[in-house]
Amino acid sequence: MHKSVADIISMKKSRQKISVLTSYDFTLASLCDRAGIDILLVGDSAGMVMLGYENTIPVTMEQMCLFTEAVSRARENTLIVADLPFMSYQASITDAIENSGRLIKSGADAVKLEGGIPMAETINEIVQVGIPVMGHIGFQPQTTMLSGGYKVQGKTADSAMQLIEDAKALEEAGVFSIALEMVTQEVAEIISDTVSIPTIGIGSGKNCDGQVLVIQDLLGMYDKIKPKFVKKYLNLSEDIVDAIKKYKTEIQEGVFPAKENCFQMDDVEIEKLRKKIGS
Ligand code: KIV
Repeated sequence: MHKSVADIISMKKSRQKISVLTSYDFTLASLCDRAGIDILLVGDSAGMVMLGYENTIPVTMEQMCLFTEAVSRARENTLIVADLPFMSYQASITDAIENSGRLIKSGADAVKLEGGIPMAETINEIVQVGIPVMGHIGFQPQTTMLSGGYKVQGKTADSAMQLIEDAKALEEAGVFSIALEMVTQEVAEIISDTVSIPTIGIGSGKNCDGQVLVIQDLLGMYDKIKPKFVKKYLNLSEDIVDAIKKYKTEIQEGVFPAKENCFQMDDVEIEKLRKKIGS
């Protein structure tokens, strides 16, 4: 039986830190699951790291459903949360509920959407139909990219108060956890102490109840943007390019494929064949 939303909530109560990684494909999702990650987030960051978009704005519901299906086929133990992409929930509550349902039918256990107080009613309606929701405040890529790019949130007392009010409104609306993106560590700590549900930080310091990173960043596979909060645990892009160069050289030099990479006929059959073709 895989982890449930209740299991994640209880981790905060027992002061266990929650580990979250993004996941968009079967292979890496299987490895994250095997490594014991608590939540796999099918983030709309897929648009950038998997599809090469500049930002998350162009991501569609069809794409999110496809990534979610792939991740859900790999999952054995983790909870799966899938992002509602830009304009799949903002225009109407009906859209929000229908599209949340599509992600659940694709294999997600919960959905995530961006926004504070203005999204509280929508969140409450989604929760009312039985779909768990993760909130997302602080830097919100779906909207702040349109208005001014990457900016740390909660640097002033006023903006900090706004974030705290947003977090309280989301808890009241029924979210089971809140992602805090690029929030100053002081404000992230206050929010984590204020709400009873887990906070999951990305670039928001160590006092959140859990942490999330984009898996390609952690593995050192995506070099287009290099946020300060990312820790590279591997430098896979270099290793991958080296391996591919070696493959190319071995093809050119006739080293690959070697005998052990090929399929052979048995001696009797090859002899028979030689006679048939007269050689
Ligand atoms: O899409 C994503 O990867 C996210 C995380 C940055 C929280 O929403």
